[in-house]
Amino acid sequence: MIVALLNQKGGVGKTTLALHLAGEWARQGQRVTLIDADPQGSALDWSQQREHERLARLFGVIGLARDTLHREAPELARTANHVVIDGPPRVAGLMRSALMAADLVLIPVQPSPLDGWASAEMLALLKEARIYRPNLAARFVLNRCAARTIIARETANGLADHDPPVLGATIGQRIVFAAAAQSGQLVQELDPDGPAAREIARLAEDITSLAAGRDRHG
Ligand SMILES: Nc1ncnc2c1ncn2[C@@H]1O[C@H](COP(=O)(O)OP(=O)(O)OP(=O)(O)O)[C@@H](O)[C@H]1O
Ligand SMILES: [Mg+2]
Repeated sequence: MIVALLNQKGGVGKTTLALHLAGEWARQGQRVTLIDADPQGSALDWSQQREHERLARLFGVIGLARDTLHREAPELARTANHVVIDGPPRVAGLMRSALMAADLVLIPVQPSPLDGWASAEMLALLKEARIYRPNLAARFVLNRCAARTIIARETANGLADHDPPVLGATIGQRIVFAAAAQSGQLVQELDPDGPAAREIARLAEDITSLAAGRDRHG
């Protein structure tokens, strides 16, 4: 399956969640390739940092910040159980290509009630991609949930009614994610029994069951 983490908003956790999802599946013994579709190359930096620290390689990271992504990603998917795309910034061509490559789009958002969760442009591009690919699944993922109260309020306002829907698994605001980014490690390695590692495991589970559901329905 090809999972793309996309949001034209910066700093919402695309790279963080892409690395941790890829790492979670890799730690389970699955073959994973991460495509860094961001010209900034943050995921590549992370994997280089990891190499520099002589830590074991978990998954390959390939820099592919170009709009032929939709042709190259399926090739990579042939030799991997999972391909994870760390999404591009506000470049419509790259975004289109990532949307055409993905089976599942995850849109990380910070659950701020004051804010639109994704740009109108991003949602328009998703709609456009679905004309060609009606089975393209999409979910919001609530990241950096600082307080339960915010989520509770949003829930009261009908989280389930959002389009795309909101994934059940949420990720808290946790300092260990910043430590992981800097050290070329994962929260599963830095604090294996901690809440961040548990949240990532739950996120991976939710995605796996989404994929299973999809497959059952053809
Ligand atoms: N759940 C979290 N808890 C704490 N810090 C987080 C969390 N998620 C992300 N961060 C931190 O927030 C910053 C931005 O996250 P990240 O780089 O993953 O976002 P991004 O969407 O990839 O940003 P960009 O658009 O610049 O590529 C990073 O410093 C990261 O460590
Ligand atoms: Mg990033």
